[in-house]
Amino acid sequence: MNFMQTPEWTTLSNLANEIKGQHMRDWFAAEPSRAQDFTVSACGIEIDYSKNRITSSVMQGLFDLAKACKVEETRDAMFAGEIINNTEGRAVLHTALRNKSDKPVYVDGKDVMPEVRATLDKMAAFVNDIHSGRHLGYTGKPIKHVVSIGIGGSFLGPKIMTEALKPYQTDTINVHFVANVDGCHINDVLNALDHEETLIVMSSKSFTTQETLQNTLTAKSWFFSKGGTQEDIAKHFIAISSNVAAATEFGIAKENIFPMWDWVGGRYSLWSAIGLPIALALGFDNFNAMLDGAHAMDEHFVSAPLEQNIPVILATLGVWYRHFFDGQSQVLLPYYHYLRGLPAYIQQLDMESNGKSVNKDGERVDYATGPIIWGSEGTNGQHSFHQLIHQGAGLMPIDFIFPLVADNSDATHHAMLASNCFGQAQALMQGKAYEDCYADLENKGLEEDERRALAEHKTMPGNKPSNTITFEKLDPFTLGALIAMYEHKVHVQGTIWHLNSYDQWGVELGKVLGNQVLSGIDGNTALSAFDHSTAALITKFKQANTQ
Ligand code: F6P
Repeated sequence: MNFMQTPEWTTLSNLANEIKGQHMRDWFAAEPSRAQDFTVSACGIEIDYSKNRITSSVMQGLFDLAKACKVEETRDAMFAGEIINNTEGRAVLHTALRNKSDKPVYVDGKDVMPEVRATLDKMAAFVNDIHSGRHLGYTGKPIKHVVSIGIGGSFLGPKIMTEALKPYQTDTINVHFVANVDGCHINDVLNALDHEETLIVMSSKSFTTQETLQNTLTAKSWFFSKGGTQEDIAKHFIAISSNVAAATEFGIAKENIFPMWDWVGGRYSLWSAIGLPIALALGFDNFNAMLDGAHAMDEHFVSAPLEQNIPVILATLGVWYRHFFDGQSQVLLPYYHYLRGLPAYIQQLDMESNGKSVNKDGERVDYATGPIIWGSEGTNGQHSFHQLIHQGAGLMPIDFIFPLVADNSDATHHAMLASNCFGQAQALMQGKAYEDCYADLENKGLEEDERRALAEHKTMPGNKPSNTITFEKLDPFTLGALIAMYEHKVHVQGTIWHLNSYDQWGVELGKVLGNQVLSGIDGNTALSAFDHSTAALITKFKQANTQ
C-alpha cells in the first residue's frame, strides 16, 4: 500500500495547504492550553511538541495515517518474532533482549528467552569477576583497562552509552573504544596501556568486518610483543559475535565468546552482549537498569493509544515535515555534555534503517524516505550552525533534549544551559518580525535608510519546529527508554514508508570494493580492473609509500 494514495493522506494534504500561511506565534497567542495539549509523557520522559506546525486536526490526521498504514500490526509482528526483515529472512527482536516480563518470545517455534537470560547471566558473572579481581591478567595483575574494538553498531552504542552515563562509571575499570582502521587510533590507545592489565573486547556480529579484524590483529601483535603468549590470550581477549565458529578460528577461547543472534541487527545490538563494555564500565546493575528503561518504553509503545504514543507522535511529525514541508533533515541537540554522542548514534540507527529508496516489496519508491540526521551538543551549535536553522533556506525540525537535573554541573551552569535550550526553541518558534527589528533600530537612533536595510537582515522568520524532550536526570533507566523511543520512531516511519528498516544492503558494495582496492594496492589485482580515476589514486598511494 502506498501511503500517499490513502484518503488519510488527502486529508493531511488539505490540512497542510490550510496551515501553510499561518504562524505558530499566533497559535500560541490564541491557544492558552497549547503547550499542555501537545505534551505527552511516559517512562520519565516528557515531550513538549507544541512548537510544531500542527493543529489538533493535523495530529488526528497523522494518527489516522499511522493506523491506515498498519503501524500497530507491524509493531505487533516485530514483538511476536515474525520475519519482518524479509530480505534477510530474519526476525527483529532487540526487544527480546530487554524483555523483563515472563512472556516467551518465539523464533521459528523456539523460545529465545532462556538463551537471552543465560547470556545476561554470563555477562553479569564476567563483569563481577573483572570488578572483584577474580579474573586477573596472566601475570596476576587485576584488569584496569578494557579496549573495546568494533565498528558501526558494535561501537557506537557501547561508546556513546558509556559516555552518556559518565556519572555512573566505576573507577575500577577504564574502557577505551576503537573503531577506525586508521592505525593512529589503536596504536595511540595501546601504547598508553600495560598489556598485563588490559582486556581486549572484540565486538563483531558477523566477525568478518575488516576494520575490527585488523584492529584486533594489531592488538594481538602488541600483546605478543610485550611478552604475552598464545596461552595467555584466554585471560586477555574476549569476543562478542553471532559467528562463534569464526571467532574460535581466530583464536578466541570458546568460553570467552559471548553469543548474539542473527535476529539482533547491528544498530540495535547494544542491548545484547555487544553492551558488555557498557556493563564493564558502569557495573552490571546499571546496564540492567538500561534494559529496564528500554523495556518500559517497549511496553509504552505496545500499549499506549496512538494519540499518546511517544514513538508514533515523533515519527508522524517527521513524516509531516518530510513530505509537506520538504524537511530533508532532522536535527538532534542534546543540551547535556555527556550525551553529546547521541546525534551520531541516532544517525546510524535512523539513516542505516530508513535510508532506502526501494520498498519492502522491491519496488522503487517515488517519495522521500529517511531524513538526514545531524546535530551536536548544545550550546555549542548556537555559536556555529544554528544560523542556518534560524535564517537559512529550508526547514529543519529539531529535537531539543535536556535533563532537568544534571549530575556534574553546578547550578549556575545548569541554569544557563536550560535558558539556552529553552530560549533557542522559543526563538525558532516565534522569530522576530521586520517591524520589531525596525523599531529596535529606530530606538538606537539609526538613519531611515540604515534602519530599513539592517532590519531586513535582522528579521527572523520563526515558525521553525522543534520538540523539547526533558527528563529529570539521565540515569541508566532513562537512557534506555530514550534510545528505545528513537528505535520505535524509526520503526513507525519505516512502516509508513513501507520499507524494510532492518537490512542495510547499501553498505555492502563499499565493503566489497574496499577489499578489491586493497588487493590492487597489494598488487594482487591488476590496475586495469579499476576505473581510471581509482587506478590513478592507487598508483599515487603506492608511489607515496615507496619513497
Ligand atoms: O557496515 C555496516 C555494518 O554492517 C553495520 O550494520 C554494523 O553495525 C557494522 O557494520 C559492524 O558489523 P559487525 O558487528 O558485523 O562487525
